[in-house]
Amino acid sequence: MTALLWQKPGVAVDAQIQAFLAGDDVILDREFFLHDIAASRAHAQGLERIGILSAAELQTLEAELDALAEDFRNGAFVLDARYEDGHSAIEARLVERLGDAGKKIHTGRSRNDQVLVATRLWLKEKLARLAALSRECAGLALERAAAERELPLPGYTHLQRAVVSSAGMWWAGWAEAFIDDARRALDTLALIDANPLGSAAGYGVNLPLDRAHTTQALGFARLQVGPVYAQLSRGKFELAALEALGSATLDLRRLAWDLSLFTSAEYGFVALPAQYTTGSSIMPNKRNPDVVELMRATHASVAAARTEIEQLLSLPSGYHRDLQASKGAIVHGFGRGLAALELLPALLGNLEWRPERMRAAVDAGMYATDVAVEQAAAGVPFRDAYRAAAESVDRAGDGRTPEGSLRARVSPGAAADLRLDLLQARLAAL
Ligand code: ARG
Repeated sequence: MTALLWQKPGVAVDAQIQAFLAGDDVILDREFFLHDIAASRAHAQGLERIGILSAAELQTLEAELDALAEDFRNGAFVLDARYEDGHSAIEARLVERLGDAGKKIHTGRSRNDQVLVATRLWLKEKLARLAALSRECAGLALERAAAERELPLPGYTHLQRAVVSSAGMWWAGWAEAFIDDARRALDTLALIDANPLGSAAGYGVNLPLDRAHTTQALGFARLQVGPVYAQLSRGKFELAALEALGSATLDLRRLAWDLSLFTSAEYGFVALPAQYTTGSSIMPNKRNPDVVELMRATHASVAAARTEIEQLLSLPSGYHRDLQASKGAIVHGFGRGLAALELLPALLGNLEWRPERMRAAVDAGMYATDVAVEQAAAGVPFRDAYRAAAESVDRAGDGRTPEGSLRARVSPGAAADLRLDLLQARLAAL
């Protein structure tokens, strides 16, 4: 590692201790580097506005920050073990290239301040992506709910055949789930859309920093007012973002379970797009739903990230180096979670039903609830109707079809009255 920006003369830096302190920062900070540069630019502009930097100094700083961003994108600049972390690497480069102007950029900010704003910008980007993907999944599910509204599908409770259901109901369920997931991502995005930059090390600084400017320049909806709270929100906002992600990955986990079951020979209701299955290295007869299984596994990583941050936050107020460890958790959680969700729209759009197998799995007993409810509608007290239907379960299907059962399922939201228009309106309003 090159000389540390904060190094004091006469104090030897122990390499092993230094490596421990830096942890995986230079790897993780690659995720946040461009956001850190964007925020550094805004900070420099703010310094110019209060007379700390001259217009000429600002101009050279902005040009050099642009050049660094470009070098980073094309690989000419690599954030590696030469640096302690991404935040100090930016300053080091500016000092090296610009001398005194570079040495001025850190006026009125701390590295904590810097990483807080960079990770905040990163989280906003990830939540926006989560919302977009959830919306896309909801849209596809809605389309298929409308198109496959009358396609019979057995409905299960306790993994036992229960009542006649439909592909329309199944799709409508996922559509509403992903609408809520998008809603939650956007609400969380609004919660965290607050500018922490300018909190210095969490106690402000003796300068009239132009925080209104950095808020606007970085596209934040509001200023995060108190420096103490800005520090307190690190971790808390990460946790909120992971919870929003967890809503979607939990739905994905249950959806993946359905697909694992439905693609098994025992059910045989669904065929996955060929790219979504893999062969076995030993059993020539097999096509395995590995993608669906790894999609199911991603919630574990999101939950792990959430737990890691929650445990980390057991701290008094103010910055503590502990918080550095929150970066690995969000990179891991969002890395895994979004990678799985990225593959979901195409899977939803292209999975194929096997209607004969679905129809064949509807047995007589699955009409027993229809029989009981019909009697109750005709005036028989429900418990009596229920008992009578239970006694003649074998004959419950006489003269009935899955289509007839679905046409009679008129309770709002059920097969005969899916109310997709309501879902469509919510989706459109997101
Ligand atoms: N890399 C640290 C982080 O991500 C910021 C550095 C702060 N270091 C310090 N000694 N205050 O939290």
